[in-house]
Amino acid sequence: MSTLVVVGTQWGDEGKGKIIDVLTEKADYVVRFQGGNNAGHTIVINNKKYIFHLIPSGIFWPQTICVIGNGVVVDPEVLIQEIERLKKEGLKVDSKKLLISEKAHVIMPYHKALDLAREKKAKKDKIGTTCRGIGPCYEDKVARKGFRLIDLTYPELFKEKLKAILEEKNFILKYFNAETIKFEDIYEKYVKYGEYLKPYLTDVSLVLWKAKREDKKILFEGAQGTFLDIDHGTYPYVTSSNTLAGNACCGSGLGPLEIDMVLGVVKAYTTRVGEGPFPTELKNELGDRLRTGGFEFGSTTGRPRRCGWLDLVLVKTAIRLNSIKALALTKLDVLSGFENLKICIAYEYEGKIIDYLPSSLNEMAKLKPIYKDLPGWKRDIKNVKRFEDLPDETKTYIKTIEEYLEVPFYLISFGPERESCFILKNPFEN
Ligand code: GDP
Ligand code: IMO
Ligand code: MG
Repeated sequence: MSTLVVVGTQWGDEGKGKIIDVLTEKADYVVRFQGGNNAGHTIVINNKKYIFHLIPSGIFWPQTICVIGNGVVVDPEVLIQEIERLKKEGLKVDSKKLLISEKAHVIMPYHKALDLAREKKAKKDKIGTTCRGIGPCYEDKVARKGFRLIDLTYPELFKEKLKAILEEKNFILKYFNAETIKFEDIYEKYVKYGEYLKPYLTDVSLVLWKAKREDKKILFEGAQGTFLDIDHGTYPYVTSSNTLAGNACCGSGLGPLEIDMVLGVVKAYTTRVGEGPFPTELKNELGDRLRTGGFEFGSTTGRPRRCGWLDLVLVKTAIRLNSIKALALTKLDVLSGFENLKICIAYEYEGKIIDYLPSSLNEMAKLKPIYKDLPGWKRDIKNVKRFEDLPDETKTYIKTIEEYLEVPFYLISFGPERESCFILKNPFEN
């Protein structure tokens, strides 16, 4: 068993970064396969907080090689900043430690400008994107108008194509009354980014293929969450890539039969950033309490996250969509002190009980969650040393979820730090 994919089962920010960091101790490679710097993955080591947007969350483990796959959209400026910041921390981030697919697409300045301009114009219909240019970059990839990182290393070819593309992009930017982009302002800059990143560029598919043959342990790090998936999420309030485990293959160049295991990360309650349906949202003091207790503010944009009870209909759907065979539960400590807890086990839709998420926004808007009530626990669980020492009510909460989902928890996280995590079973040893 050597290839493990880790994905979020909700709307992102489930604590994937922390779980990846914990699991990387057992991994040789950590691979990002989709998304871009819309992701914000937090890890806390020795009381110091690090937020990664592009670099895989396993970077601090000395034995591990970090990989950015072809499915990721890369803002070179952000990536270079992340590399330089890590170097300042004393980490050696050379071309042996970090590998980047030459096929990964580049987020260009006009992608960011367009993302921002659209969100501004949309007003009440806005998606609430991170305005990092993610959607427009993926659009260009699919339209076959994009630049791949390798293209930045051929300055003359890049020059010609950029001139042509800017004509079209500036036409659209004018439509939005947004500032247009001058060739002279960006060309040299992006050629320099290409020069900086060139040593890191490689054929990731080939590297992973060889690693797999040598039985190396490969960990895939999902970004966003299942319900932000472009096909299976709450469309159009989604991101612009497939966030599901299946995309680990397309986004890295490793074939589907090479994947051995999929682990889903479940936050003990639900959050979402940006607009879109959220059946169990708590627009009251309980929601505020979750936000304050869980420090639920976007790791990328700082926006307050919307908070609500755990929605197991969603998580069960995520299990189906991703082939999840093991789970990690996070942020359990945030529920300490709540008198009563609720978990959503079905929805009422026009008088009928359903246990799936409908596809249309109209239908989603009419869903009424059906809750199971559970007792809360008073005691703070942050300093608990053994799983057995958790309060009985906490164990009941865990057991109830596990029974409903019919998938076991392999990890239980009860604080942001590396150490605040019980590994009940190592998913690499399945
Ligand atoms: P990701 O995008 O899924 O990696 O999650 P984020 O890093 O955006 O958000 C998760 C937040 O919760 C971060 O601030 C983490 O440091 C924090 N966190 C992760 N696990 C736990 C946990 O078990 N308890 C608490 N209290 N915080 C956690
Ligand atoms: P991680 O990996 C939470 C949300 C945005 C917006 C929608 C589309 O940290 O879990 P985009 O900029 O992708 O076009 O925005 O998706 N979104 C996230 N929400 N966590 C994330 O990543 C997200 N990445 C994008 O808030 O609603
Ligand atoms: Mg996040």
